[in-house]
Amino acid sequence: MENARFSPWLGHIDRMVAVADMREPSVADQIHVLQHAAYSVEAQRIGSSDFPPLRETLDALRCCTDCFLVFVEDGNIIGCLSYGQSGAVFTITRLVVCPQHFRRGIASALLRQLECRLPSGSVVCASTADLNEPAIRAYEKQGYGTAVGPTSEGITLRRLHKRIEGTNEQIQPDRSN
Ligand SMILES: CC(C)(COP(=O)(O)OP(=O)(O)OC[C@H]1O[C@@H](n2cnc3c(N)ncnc32)[C@H](O)[C@@H]1OP(=O)(O)O)[C@@H](O)C(=O)NCCC(=O)NCCS
Repeated sequence: MENARFSPWLGHIDRMVAVADMREPSVADQIHVLQHAAYSVEAQRIGSSDFPPLRETLDALRCCTDCFLVFVEDGNIIGCLSYGQSGAVFTITRLVVCPQHFRRGIASALLRQLECRLPSGSVVCASTADLNEPAIRAYEKQGYGTAVGPTSEGITLRRLHKRIEGTNEQIQPDRSN
């Protein structure tokens, strides 16, 4: 991460949530490796042998125009949330945590930080596989409502949504190992 450029909000030097600069090759590289590791776990969880997010190439990721929030610890990106915007609706396009760091509150910290960035009245949407219980629980823990969604490429989806009524300044994980 020596060449990575981040815009930290708060937090320690060794652990922070930041906006990733996707023009920085080392940042895109790290996120690509991270999402491959995390989505491999998700694919296994839901029994998908051809999971669409695993097909995303590094070039496609580099060209993605979404905003990327990353959780950085000791110079390494170990969590990532990306989102796109259409008016007051913000759609989470990826939420991934390095499998070695599951269940440390990193996804929760990223979801809370997203809320800090959004104006009151915004709506945040996401979707995940209906069988992806860890993700659904992580969203529910942050106050997201859920609804059964459509089936895409043989995967039944769950829609998640939350209306943002205020801001939340917490950005650290709930706990650490
Ligand atoms: C889903 C995922 C992002 C959760 O990340 P995380 O950093 O481990 O989540 P957190 O530690 O913030 O957990 C928040 C809550 O989610 C729930 N949760 C997380 N992992 C869980 C698991 N394996 N089993 C049951 N509940 C789980 C718990 O309620 C947890 O709160 P608790 O630990 O206080 O009980 C992570 O498992 C992941 O990257 N999975 C692979 C990719 C994926 O499925 N992405 C989501 C696609 S939208």
